[in-house]
Amino acid sequence: MTSTPQPPPSHDLVGIGFGPSNVALAIGLREQRERSAAEPATPGLSGVFLERQAEFGWHRGMLLDDATMQVSFLKDLVTTRNPASDFGFLSYLHAAGRLHDFINHKTLFPLRAEFHDYLAWCADRVGDQVRYGAEVVAIEPVRDEGGRISQLDVVARTGDGARHRSRGRNIVFAPGLTPRLPEGARLTERVWHNEYLLQRLAALDTAADPRTFVVVGAGQSAAECVDHLYRRFPRARVHAVFSRFGYSPSDDSPFANRIFDPGAVDAFYGASAETKAEIMGYHRNTNYSVVDPDLIDTLYHAAYQDKVKGAERLRMHNTSRVADVHEAPGGVTVTVEDLASGKHTAVEADYLVYATGYSSADPRDLLGEVAEHVVCDGAGRPAVERDYRLATSDEVTCGIYLQGGTEHTHGISSSLLSNVAVRVGEILDAISARTAGTPNTADTPRAAGAASAAGGR
Ligand code: FDA
Ligand code: NAP
Repeated sequence: MTSTPQPPPSHDLVGIGFGPSNVALAIGLREQRERSAAEPATPGLSGVFLERQAEFGWHRGMLLDDATMQVSFLKDLVTTRNPASDFGFLSYLHAAGRLHDFINHKTLFPLRAEFHDYLAWCADRVGDQVRYGAEVVAIEPVRDEGGRISQLDVVARTGDGARHRSRGRNIVFAPGLTPRLPEGARLTERVWHNEYLLQRLAALDTAADPRTFVVVGAGQSAAECVDHLYRRFPRARVHAVFSRFGYSPSDDSPFANRIFDPGAVDAFYGASAETKAEIMGYHRNTNYSVVDPDLIDTLYHAAYQDKVKGAERLRMHNTSRVADVHEAPGGVTVTVEDLASGKHTAVEADYLVYATGYSSADPRDLLGEVAEHVVCDGAGRPAVERDYRLATSDEVTCGIYLQGGTEHTHGISSSLLSNVAVRVGEILDAISARTAGTPNTADTPRAAGAASAAGGR
């Protein structure tokens, strides 16, 4: 007699990815359960998270010396949702014994390395909710007796090649950004994307003495790469190639910065497509293709010093583009076209680094047959409700929520940390409201109580 395989235990939510967005969600879940223990009214939520990395890591390839945060530390994983949370950056500093030192530092913008340590400290404290080394490779529908998709099975490939299945009445996608390359470009031993810069440099032979790098792009990543390579390899020449006339400064002036506030999400969400496009056009320079003004000054200073010394190690190819890349065993020849003069220059480089930005993941790529039920806007992009739920046909009764990939609906803070704490509260409130009354079959116990995830309200 063959036995029927047991269905996996069902959770209120399954999170895909465990970067800052879903770590913040795991904290929200935990805080909600703690509150629910004290106020037994409606059940708390059970959740499990799947992360492909072996341990927590936040853009490790770009944890460059001296790189600082692009947002205030007050926009940590909790404070704007629940300032009383003990998961805030200040609680971390206190635990690390650096609170007074940090205050004396008089900055709102910690080093990225320090913020990474803060994020890892948070992730560790909610580590009971995550399975590391689990890459989600498929999502399959689970139908109820009426034939509707009421749950989803999230299938992950684990380190040993095995498949692990987690069932959720809701899923929360937070897979982050994917490195973007120019059309036709291909990553090789000598052609990199900045996302893996430090890992690539660490893998170089210790005897390697690279003499020439080419860095493409004029955003924050590109400028940081140029600065890092220039300082780390004092005998190397660094060629910066970009189409602008010069690096453009990021606008972080206070009125423009309001674009990252939770209120801006409401305004953007309710706006027409034309107004949305206008807002993005006006304020793209708060985030994209721009560089921190201090770093621009640092690079200019270095280029000028080179000129004074008569050794031009930092070479700016402005109004330029890469016209051709030819890789041979000993190096890579990058043909740079000056767009103003039409002149072509061949640069014999050891390594070419594309710092050409990132794209958001499309949840439909993982949704399999469920993707057919996703409602799209006129441009073919997924429609998303204000509470971050993917709009679907009525056949789908479970919730599919997005953290990231909602710039077209919710605005420019979609891929950033600015709004993570508040967004997580909104998603948990939405899931709580939908969950009230559904039976609990999870292996993580649902605590009693907890109606609202939005602590501090
Ligand atoms: P994030 O990309 O951090 O995490 C997604 C996670 O999902 C990753 O751990 C990934 O491994 C995992 N994952 C993906 N697919 C998976 C799958 N199929 N199965 C399982 N796991 C999967 N923003 C800001 O506001 N201030 C800042 O200072 C910076 N600084 C910054 C520096 C650099 C170098 C970059 C590239 C970006 C920033 N950002 C930023 C923007 C950045 O998007 C943001 O800080 C967060 O990383 C967003 O967090 P998420 O958790 O949404 O994505
Ligand atoms: P980005 O801002 O999107 O900049 C990409 C750059 O690449 C732009 O200069 C763009 O050109 C250029 N580019 C794009 N496609 C190209 C192509 N096909 N050919 C040539 N050039 C091309 O990307 P980013 O610099 O990686 O920044 C992404 C996000 O990460 C931002 O939010 C940023 O703040 C964040 N970040 C933060 C830190 C930090 O916290 N310290 C560090 C790095 C990144 P144009 O100039 O023509 O647009």
